[in-house]
Formats: sequence, structure tokens, C-alpha cells
Amino acid sequence: MMRSHYCGLVTEALTDQTITIAGWVHRRRDHGGVIFLDMRDREGLLQVVIDPDTPEAFATADAARSEYLLKITGRVRRRYEGTENDNMTSGKVELLAKEIELLAKADTPPFPLNDENINVSEELRLKYRFLDMRRPEMQERMKFRAKATSVIRRYLDDHDFLDVETPILTRATPEGARDYLVPSRTHQGEFFALPQSPQLFKQLLMVSGFDRYYQIAKCFRDEDLRADRQPEFTQVDIETSFLSDDEIMDIAEGLTKTLFKTMLNVEFDTFPRMTYADAMKYYASDKPDLRIPLKLVDVADIMQNVEFKVFSGPAQDPKGRVVALRIPNGGEMSRKQIDEYTKFVGIYGAKGLAYIKVNDANNINNGVDKESGLQSPIIKNMTDDVLVELIQRTEAQSGDIIFFGADKAKVVNDAMGALRVKIGTDLEMFTCEWAPLWVVDFPMFEETDDGKWTSVHHPFTRPKCSVEDLKNNPETALSIAYDMVLNGTEIGGGSLRINTVEMQEAVFDALGITKEEAELKFKFLLEALRFGAPPHGGLAFGLDRLIMLMVGASSIRDVIAFPKTKTAECPLTEAPAEVDSKQLRELGIRVREKEKAQ
Ligand code: AMO
Ligand code: AMP
Repeated sequence: MMRSHYCGLVTEALTDQTITIAGWVHRRRDHGGVIFLDMRDREGLLQVVIDPDTPEAFATADAARSEYLLKITGRVRRRYEGTENDNMTSGKVELLAKEIELLAKADTPPFPLNDENINVSEELRLKYRFLDMRRPEMQERMKFRAKATSVIRRYLDDHDFLDVETPILTRATPEGARDYLVPSRTHQGEFFALPQSPQLFKQLLMVSGFDRYYQIAKCFRDEDLRADRQPEFTQVDIETSFLSDDEIMDIAEGLTKTLFKTMLNVEFDTFPRMTYADAMKYYASDKPDLRIPLKLVDVADIMQNVEFKVFSGPAQDPKGRVVALRIPNGGEMSRKQIDEYTKFVGIYGAKGLAYIKVNDANNINNGVDKESGLQSPIIKNMTDDVLVELIQRTEAQSGDIIFFGADKAKVVNDAMGALRVKIGTDLEMFTCEWAPLWVVDFPMFEETDDGKWTSVHHPFTRPKCSVEDLKNNPETALSIAYDMVLNGTEIGGGSLRINTVEMQEAVFDALGITKEEAELKFKFLLEALRFGAPPHGGLAFGLDRLIMLMVGASSIRDVIAFPKTKTAECPLTEAPAEVDSKQLRELGIRVREKEKAQ
């Protein structure tokens, strides 16, 4: 064997033993004739001392540079008192080198790997990802991910789930994003789609009788990317038969609890459940961050007849919404800060951000000078009655500020939901470290911008109502679907599925999918439903998001070995890339010149 021990695991238990390590030069220091090398491998660092009285080893160490790969044999000894480092496992010892072998030289790295605070562009880190991942921080994250994945597998194995792989080359699946397509050489002009999730296959596995399935599955979605979205990501995908929604949620909750207990020693109580309607009402989000103790308050009824059209308009519009957001002790906020928040809500389409500073909550009675009690650009447009009701409804206290959003409900929800999180974060209002919950009772359908109807989850989600009711009132139908939310991030989602052809056809119908279209795209599913399909349901966790939250990273890119950039490219391999014309010819594909030039 080339080495006897990992650098990062050498402790005082090995004192006086001769060992061999192999690692990269993390740092090299010259101390008046003695050379110190901090050697690094996946388990951490070990300090190596090279004395001039081992001239060969000394010469090799002297010539070594950052990231040179060395094999070093030597004797473990206690460090001198005062030179111990409690931050590392090997901090009480050092290796006195006897022999050093140069295994590989290294060019100067494009960025230092031994300074966590160095400011390097993500583009550069991704281009040299193989070096970036040598950094201890990335090593820790990837090790954490591997261990967490193993805990998840063990939990599911222990609960009798079978790991079954499903195809990557398949037909378009309906999670609502754009597909990645793969041209077929043997069937020119035809394409495979990469799966947006194993949804349909896992349902078929239930029809096959496997009863409990799981897979750590790659999913592919060509959608606009954000910090928590990648074109290629990983789901912990789960499906079961003969279980109720509560039972499925219990399994998923148990998995989450086991994971947090094992990995972080964090214990959760039973997850609270919140209806989608309440989540929207109080948090203007279907993934509320409950660490922040702020709630929205609907005030459309109060604003119905105010002079200020910006408020009375949306208050009278059935698709409008008018909300207040009270920030306790926010009255100190500067004009500049308020302007910044106004700009912030503008990103979400809000046309402004009205506010009232409550200087004295008791001083707004009829006839009393408003200015002394309240301070705001909008109160001149409101009667005292309205103001009193606003103060009461929002439970405002002296020293608070109240923000208002008024517009179409979607704009208000996007803007005020985000503002709630932004202010809560800026003012450090978090009341706890972890806030998991279930969001339940989602609507079956929502209206798209162009007036069509689309599934809130996917078209295989079982409605809470009968086929009849669904046909008569599709707009108000709820689904038996549930999302797991942690700290304002949707970490998982699932549902009971439709297991009869009648219901499946009724849902396609409500979505405006014609019989012909359904036959064309989902024939195999409809057929399967005719052959004794069990009642079934499941869910999928977003593994990358879960790990991101657990390690405290701010992007899922930080917990994926080789992620894509925000523009869906890989700086390392420079994929996507052009292919040679022979390959294209074999596939029967010609790239349109004009588009290629762009
Ligand atoms: P859904 O589309 O909600 O459900 O996906 C499940 C979970 O996957 C994660 N996720 C993503 N993570 C990173 N990048 C992305 N682009 C991305 N998109 C989704 C989220 C999400 O909660 N087939 C259903 C599951 C089911 O019904 O069983 C599905 O895919 O954390
Ligand atoms: P204006 O009458 O346009 O000067 O606006 C008066 C106040 O109302 C300002 O503080 C604006 O930021 C705010 N405002 C304007 N439009 C909206 C809106 N749609 N929702 C909330 N506040 C708004």
C-alpha cells in the first residue's frame, strides 16, 4: 500500500510510530532552516516538519510548491507546548519526515486553495472544479452529501422500499418545465425526452405491484435557473400503494427527522400543517418561512371606499388584493431604507410601497391631529375611521411601521411575500433555526397568464372531490397533495394519484387536453389504469435543496460536484458544445445557419 494513514486522522495515539501519508501541499512555511508543510487529503491536514539533517527529504520539500503531491514517511511526535492547534484532529501532533517522494508536480493553481476567504468568481471555481473541490469546505460538503444520501437509503431500505431504476431516455413527462430532447439516430426526426421526474414510471411500478419504490433519481428540466434550481438535479423519489396521504406524510416526515437527527443532531417536533389558503393569506407564499414572525393582514374591506384609487381599485377588484404588513419597532426605518424596499418590491411588479409610521398608536381619534400620531404619504387620503380600523386590524403599536401592497393578487403575493422575508432577514427577526412544515389542500388547477388552466402539481394528482364535482367546479377543486417546506424552501412535494381512467380523463378534460392528445402522450398510463391499478401515492424530495439547507450553503450549486452555471452551461467541459457534421448527418439534423451564428 502506498500510504498507511490519512493525514487528517493522525492523532497522538500514533505518537512515536512510523507512518506514511500521501497528500497535497496545502501550505509551505520556511522557519529558519526548518521547513513546515501542511499536507492535505480528504480527511484533513497534517503538519510535517523537515529538518536539514535529512538532506534528501529537505531538498524535495524545499522544491515543493502549493498543490505538489508528496508521499512522506516519518515519525509521529507530539508538538511542542504552545504550538498545538485545537481546531484540527491532528493538531496535537506533527510528522517528522524521513523520506519524501514527489508523486506529482502541480502548476500554480488559478486561485489559492488554502484561503477560505479569498474572493474567486464562481465561473472560475466551476472551470477548475476539480481544484475547487480540493478545498476543505467543498470536501466537507461532498462528504456530508454522501453520508446523508446513505442515511436516506438506509431509512428507506429499513422501511421495505425497493430501489428500482427508471429510464433516462424516455418520452416527455409532465412536470411543467421545458424538456431536454435527445435526437434518435435509428428513428430520424424523432426524439427522446429526458425525464423531468420518474413520475409516470413510478406509478407504473405501483401497477406492477412493487408496493414501495424509491430511487435517488436524476431529473432534467429546462427552466429559468435560480440559486435553488439546476437543469439537472436529484430527487429522492418515493411511491407507495395502499397508504393514505397521512401515512405517506408520516414516512416522509420520519425520514426527514432521522436525517436531521443523524447528521446534525437536530430533533424536530411533529411538523405543523398549514392549508395552501392560509399560507397565501398570512404569508403570501406556498412555501412560507416560519422562522420569521411576520404575518400579512388583509385590509381590502377597509379600503373599499377610500379616496386613494391605488387602494380602492384593487380592493374592489375580485382578482385584486390589499394587504398590510406590520413591522414591530420598524418606525425607525430611514427614508432611504424605505426607498430601497420600494425598489425591491418593484422587482416583483409592485408599483409602489405605501407605508404608515405609527408614532403614537393611541393618537388617531376623530378630530385629533393625525400628523402627531401617524406619519405617512397616504393618510391625507383616508378618514380617521379607516385609520383607526387599520391600526386595530394590524394590532399596530407605537413605534411600528406598516407597509401596504395593493394590486392584482399575484403581484401583491409575489411582492409582499418576498418583502416579508427580506425585512425579516434584514432585521434578523428569526425566532428559530429550523422551521419545517407541510402545506396541504392545494388547489387542483391554477390559471396561467394566458387564461388557460394548468395543474398546480401535475395532472396525475388525485382531487379531493368526486368526478362529478370536478367536472362541475374545477376552479374550486382541491387536490390531495402536500409539500414539505423548510425555512422557506420547498424541499419536497407529492400527492395521492388518480387510479381510475374516469377521473384521469376528467382531469385531462379540465386541463383542456383532448382525448386524442391524451391518447398520444399518456396512452401507456391510461392503459395501465385499466388493469387493476392500486390506490397509490408518494412524493419526491429535492435532495440538492435539502443538503444545501443542512450544510448552510446559499446555492444548490455548492452541494453538486459538477453543477451548471445560471445560464445552463458547464464551464469545466464547456458543454453544451457543437458536434461535428457527420454526427448531425447520422441523426438527420441540420442546424439552421442563422441561429447557429447568434
Ligand atoms: P416536484 O416538481 O415538486 O414534484 O419536484 C420535487 C422536488 O424536487 C425539487 N426540485 C428541484 N431542485 C432543484 N432544481 C430544480 N430545477 C428542481 N425542481 C424541483 C424540489 C421539489 O420539491 N413527480 C413529482 C413528485 C411527486 O408527486 O411524487 C415532482 O417531481 O425540492
Ligand atoms: P403616489 O400617489 O403614486 O405618489 O403613491 C403614494 C404612496 O403609495 C407611495 O408611498 C407609493 O409608494 C405607494 N403606492 C403606489 N402604488 C402602490 C401599490 N400598488 N401598492 C402599495 N403602495 C403603493
